[in-house]
Amino acid sequence: MITHKPFHFVWKTLLLLATTVVAVEAPYILAVASLHGVGFPELSWTSGLRHAVTALFVADIGVNFISPVRDHGRLITGPQEVRRRYLRGALWWDLLAAFPFVSLLQLSGEQAGLTSALLLVRLTKMPRIWRWFHQNLSINHRVLRLGEFIFFITLTSHWVACGWYALTVDPRATAFIDQYVVSLYWSVTTLTTVGYGDLSPDVNSNAQMLYGMAVMFMGVAAYGYVIGNISSLFANMDMAKTMHEERSAAIKEFLVAHRVPPDLQERVKTYLAYEWGATRGQQYEHILDQLPDNLQVELALHLNRDVLRKVPLLRGASEGLLRDVARAMRTCIFLPGDTVVRIGEAGTRMFFVSKGTLSVTDRAGATVSRLEEGNFFGEVALVRESPRTATIVATDFCELYALDKEAFSRILSQHPEFGDRIGERVSRITDG
Ligand code: CMP
Repeated sequence: MITHKPFHFVWKTLLLLATTVVAVEAPYILAVASLHGVGFPELSWTSGLRHAVTALFVADIGVNFISPVRDHGRLITGPQEVRRRYLRGALWWDLLAAFPFVSLLQLSGEQAGLTSALLLVRLTKMPRIWRWFHQNLSINHRVLRLGEFIFFITLTSHWVACGWYALTVDPRATAFIDQYVVSLYWSVTTLTTVGYGDLSPDVNSNAQMLYGMAVMFMGVAAYGYVIGNISSLFANMDMAKTMHEERSAAIKEFLVAHRVPPDLQERVKTYLAYEWGATRGQQYEHILDQLPDNLQVELALHLNRDVLRKVPLLRGASEGLLRDVARAMRTCIFLPGDTVVRIGEAGTRMFFVSKGTLSVTDRAGATVSRLEEGNFFGEVALVRESPRTATIVATDFCELYALDKEAFSRILSQHPEFGDRIGERVSRITDG
């Protein structure tokens, strides 16, 4: 199996280029050669390219036999299953698409135009390639959709221009390229709904009038789609930032409406700004909550592994204990001067320090210890079911992970070794 993603990306891009060559050339031959009786040899400027396209399409059959496929989001990598699916599905289209049409075109001479219609079967690959991009590229899906739309609208302009060319142009009059440019101009002005009116269907030609009307309808639909998409793209480009700004604005309005003292207002604003810098609006608990339990644990463990590794208490801990702690931890942010824990109060959480420094002060206000990255605190009140034994104040911007009482007790009961270690530390603090 080829599971190498960059390879697939390059391969699909090459295939897209190849199908684009077909999509540009086939209607051109159809319009020019078929309707005006020009033989294929006169159109052989891309003959080398045609052979390359055929070769690529043949090779693609081989690649598809050994490439993983997605079924409803599930990646299928089993060689037998991949082969079975390909044989039952797209293989026949791919075989048709890989047929060496170039030779057929050369044989068909004057009839090249009609034969070229067969080339259109190669375009069946295009939607599949785009689907692959949508499923496998991790870029903003709106940007990708817009890219796809621009791609198709450009091709459509060409197809419409070929149709207009076939309906309106006398091949003996001027050079092909001049007439094609005029047709493309009509196609673009009509599709974009600009319609200067300097080129319009001949009122004596039903075919031209009907064709003109059909393209106008297409133009209006495409225009509406583009405007809608571009505005939603910009509106959602930075959704997290927009949501953060709206939330901040609402909180600030609330503070003013309730006449909150300016220094407290300032602290709230500092908190919001720091929180944005630290999380970029990605509240990881919200993301976890949207996933099933097993994935929540995996992701939490991955995200918190660095923090957990720094905690001496958890050094050498079992995978199970790490998973349970990682899943139960909740992030919280404190500003310099914030009191995280107050002596004498009831305790509901314990904390691990991920970033920042804090001071531990006793009842007299004397600093008895300092806490930093990897330290933890707040466990005494939970273990002893007693009031807090010290006051802990942030001396810097702090990012902490909190473990609430229920989660703490659950972990303690499931992992007695953790309980023993915590117990030792509690005894040291309370006895010492
Ligand atoms: P708890 O009593 O729940 O809340 C205050 C916390 O401060 C306490 O748990 C311990 O984690 C921590 N603590 C108390 N005394 C000390 C000390 N002397 N050195 C370090 N940490 C302490």
